[in-house]
Amino acid sequence: MAPICRCNRFTAEDFGDAARRGARTVEGAIKRLGGSPECGRCMMKAREAMDAARQRAEEAE
Ligand code: FES
Repeated sequence: MAPICRCNRFTAEDFGDAARRGARTVEGAIKRLGGSPECGRCMMKAREAMDAARQRAEEAE
């Protein structure tokens, strides 16, 4: 899967995992994944990936 965060090379799946493990913000997810927030260009796509993962997790409950 192509990374959506080019600075840290994190994929949508990485952001989804971070959201399911409790990350509330994109910055929080990047830190949780061991990276550092840089340019911020991935914000929108990362947030979408996190929202989608949270929604899927809720639906699965
Ligand atoms: S692309 Fe994610 S911080 Fe730059």
